Amino acid sequence: MAANRLDGTACAAAIKSELAPRVSAFVSQHRRAPSLHILLVGDDPASHVYVRNKERAGIETGLQVTVRRMNADSSREQVLGMVHQLNDDPTCDGILVQAPLPASLGRAATQDVFDAISPVKDVDGFHPLNVGLLVQGRATLMPCTPSGVIELLERSKIAIAGTRSVVIGRSEIVGKPMALMLLQRDSTVTICHSRTKDLAGIARDADILVSAIGRPGFVTPDMVKPGATVVDVGISPTADRQLVVSLFGVASERMVGFDKKGTTVVGDVHPGVWSVAGAMTPVPGGVGPLTIALLLKNTLAAAESRAAR
Ligand code: GUN
Repeated sequence: MAANRLDGTACAAAIKSELAPRVSAFVSQHRRAPSLHILLVGDDPASHVYVRNKERAGIETGLQVTVRRMNADSSREQVLGMVHQLNDDPTCDGILVQAPLPASLGRAATQDVFDAISPVKDVDGFHPLNVGLLVQGRATLMPCTPSGVIELLERSKIAIAGTRSVVIGRSEIVGKPMALMLLQRDSTVTICHSRTKDLAGIARDADILVSAIGRPGFVTPDMVKPGATVVDVGISPTADRQLVVSLFGVASERMVGFDKKGTTVVGDVHPGVWSVAGAMTPVPGGVGPLTIALLLKNTLAAAESRAAR
């Protein structure tokens, strides 16, 4: 039997509709909309698409969204200067610096820039203060993608307490905060990564399996316990026809779409897992829309909390 489809698009729509009355109340009380400022440095095509989607969703939800574009050859000081300017702007509620920053800024630049964002405006939840609060289970601004996964699991009535969960990937943006959020909800959590031995055996023990490594089709059916909940955070755009055929089959609906557009988006989880899992997120239409919904929720929370200070 095919796994239940965990519909991220519907869940994101529900979250956004719950935000609407709170946004209206904020506007009536403060005579301005909650504001999100997005800093986009350089020409990374995927980042431009992500930022456009964030901007559109923010505007649809009634937020004031400002995108500040900076050239790829901007210096570290110029980027930090823009962050400081936004930190000092009383009408700015949320700041998001889209990663990755251009490689020319140096390896430490992304962390330095995230560290410079005022923690009360840190709608990504990447500032060390907010990460520390997350470790202690008392954060208010938390990374959007793992928060979205938790919203999806909870709204889909998937029990977390007492389960064994396995997170594949140890990034600061998804893997680590995801593990902390599951632990906070009383799951017994294992994080797997590139040096993990017998990753398949560990994954097979999971009641909740979250993959966030960006490797198409990495999680195969033999790595999944029958009936497990599988969350696919990998979103890899591809124009590789061979890859898409190997994942979906030459006669699949996905190939029809692929042959029309020449590209598609694939996840970390092999489509064969649908026949083993109990519940699973699709790609696209799973975790992706939730990341944006949670960004809007964090922006509103940051605005409300600054206004109440
Ligand atoms: N790049 C990819 N994902 C993210 C994210 O969640 N936040 C930011 N700022 N950049 C990203």
